Amino acid sequence: MPTLLEELSRVKTYDYTTEDVREFEALHVEIRALKAQRNAVIVAHNYYRPEILKVADFVGDSLELALMASRVKDADVICFCGVHFMAETAKILNPTRTVLLPNLLAGCQLADSAPAEDLAARIEELKKQYPDLAVVSYVNTTAAVKALSDVICTSANAAKVVRSLPNRNILFVPDRNLASHAAEQVPEKNIIPWDGFCYVHQQITPEEISRIREADPGIEILVHPECRPDVARLADAVLSTSGMVRYAKERSAKRFLVVTECGLSDRLAMEVPDKQFVKGCKLCTFMKVTSLEDVRDSLEKMQYEIEVPEDIRIPAERALHRMFEVTEGKPGKTNC
Ligand code: 13P
Ligand code: SF4
Repeated sequence: MPTLLEELSRVKTYDYTTEDVREFEALHVEIRALKAQRNAVIVAHNYYRPEILKVADFVGDSLELALMASRVKDADVICFCGVHFMAETAKILNPTRTVLLPNLLAGCQLADSAPAEDLAARIEELKKQYPDLAVVSYVNTTAAVKALSDVICTSANAAKVVRSLPNRNILFVPDRNLASHAAEQVPEKNIIPWDGFCYVHQQITPEEISRIREADPGIEILVHPECRPDVARLADAVLSTSGMVRYAKERSAKRFLVVTECGLSDRLAMEVPDKQFVKGCKLCTFMKVTSLEDVRDSLEKMQYEIEVPEDIRIPAERALHRMFEVTEGKPGKTNC
């Protein structure tokens, strides 16, 4: 078993000192005790800081975290180490649990690019032109937007969800790059994209990717579908964050260019030490704002509790359940 210091020293985003790691170990002890006291489970998104991933009970992508949250039965508290829309999704799916977001600054610029009032107006306008219009919303949306949607999708299942609908005309909210990725795979549908994008993935250019490939033709390129279509076209595989983890573990290739937020290459560097993960990544300030101290304080002070009013929660839950019916089977089985 590698020590925490050995694992964290493989990470390239941060230059941890022995002193930092000692502090993390002390905080892990405090957090584990609080977790037992509160009967809590800690779930974390793949992009979170490595020292938080190491104390989480479950680490995953948006789809896995939503499924996980829906299955929590024995724990009273879900401490959600993700961004606000993810914690909201957990509350929508499991309303009798207390859901905590350790730092309220952990928002998502992509989710904020589609306000519910603007979406309602756009749906009304488009329905005049396309009476069969269906609304597919990416999970990176507020609860109020989910409540206006027919079905939700994630980066792991967007094409499958779109293909499953009987409707030909689909308003896809809010990520235009994921919309374009789904449209390429399901050409029989008329996908109308919302004009949103993720500022992290949008910064990555085809020129930087091509430069790396030219210098290293044997490298495998993994791209997140929130990237621009001209970047996605250069990929060996376009995958969700956990899809990238599985792919990198299974393939015989030894070098991968990981084109997404930097936390993913850090997770891979810790878990797959015999392979090399070249960073073609950018940092998301929202995913990095939460510290290990925030996680400790969250469990100690039971902050910050996420609430979703029932008139929004119920239609949002319906849209999420439709996604599970299409992709993963019904949620509801127990994990913890
Ligand atoms: P994943 O569902 O692939 O983990 O993506 C979440 C996200 O916010 C990407 O920016
Ligand atoms: Fe939102 Fe982009 Fe950050 Fe993901 S990487 S949480 S989409 S801002």
